[in-house]
Amino acid sequence: MPTPQPGLLTALGSHQWYVHLSRTDGADLSVIKSALNDLRADCQAQGVNLAVLCGPSFLAALTDDVPDDFLDYPGYESPDGKVAKGTQEDLLVWVHSDRKDRNWATQYSFRTAVAGHMAVARETIAWVYENSLDLTGFIDGTGNPDPDREVECALVPDGKPGAGGAFCIAQRWVHDLDYFFGLSLDDQQNLFGRTKADSSRLDTQVPTSHLSHVELRDGATADASKPKRGEMVRRSTPYAMPDGTVGLYFMGFCREQAPLRERMEAIYGMNGKPRDALTDYSTPASGSFYFAPSKETLDASLGA
Ligand code: HEM
Repeated sequence: MPTPQPGLLTALGSHQWYVHLSRTDGADLSVIKSALNDLRADCQAQGVNLAVLCGPSFLAALTDDVPDDFLDYPGYESPDGKVAKGTQEDLLVWVHSDRKDRNWATQYSFRTAVAGHMAVARETIAWVYENSLDLTGFIDGTGNPDPDREVECALVPDGKPGAGGAFCIAQRWVHDLDYFFGLSLDDQQNLFGRTKADSSRLDTQVPTSHLSHVELRDGATADASKPKRGEMVRRSTPYAMPDGTVGLYFMGFCREQAPLRERMEAIYGMNGKPRDALTDYSTPASGSFYFAPSKETLDASLGA
């Protein structure tokens, strides 16, 4: 079985740096490949976790080992006009470690090396908040698969195109915390479908709860009597910008892209059901789909 990139499913460092880039006109792919090789060596030498995540057209330029059903992020809109806009790029460089300084240094060297061949579209610096809290104070990650099932849930299985790689959804959600903290504790808990104190799952899931949209089960979503399906592994962390913008940098991995699309369509009420109450207080400012090729595919395609 091909192996995942080492920085992908490992424990999160306390600091993250996300840089999205796209090729410029006339970009020289060999310059980009060489810079990616240098970035991988640099991160390894400095103890920084790295994941190289490719958009559909960039992946096809790098390798023939392209997974089935890998699409650009389309953007989503609810019937009442809530929008998750699509901002697909070629490449997401994700570095994370306990050393913010080294995260900066590694991504800075890379973007300098590709200057003139790739343009930075956007970047976000994020961090772990207490015991993996979203800025609302709710624990984020409780429903993740157990660590010994992460590989099975996140990686394309052996024998399929893209084996050992992971589909990824990356979004920067912007929170309206004034709105959220104006809700009663009951309403906050019903919004997610879990308690605030210890992330216990509520027995009754209201139709607008987050879990009623994302806890995919055989049969009805969030029907706890049925087995889960299309499970994903999340590694999301908060961010705060100097202008006061705050929110969650959402990162999720799955062995197929369809369950990620299905969840987004449900969150935005595009399946004929009520949209997720999450969208009352948070809106993604960016969104893209990537694929993290296996270490072996990356080695071969970069000539490492
Ligand atoms: C502002 C954005 C978001 C916030 C603050 C948020 C927060 C949460 C919280 C608090 C939970 C319950 C605890 C846990 O299991 O982690 C949860 C569960 C979950 N969320 Fe989100 N979430 C967000 C966006 C999304 C998106 C965009 C997706 C999928 C595309 C998603 C997928 C999931 C899944 C799969 C679960 C676990 C369901 C289960 O238990 O099976 N979330 N989220």
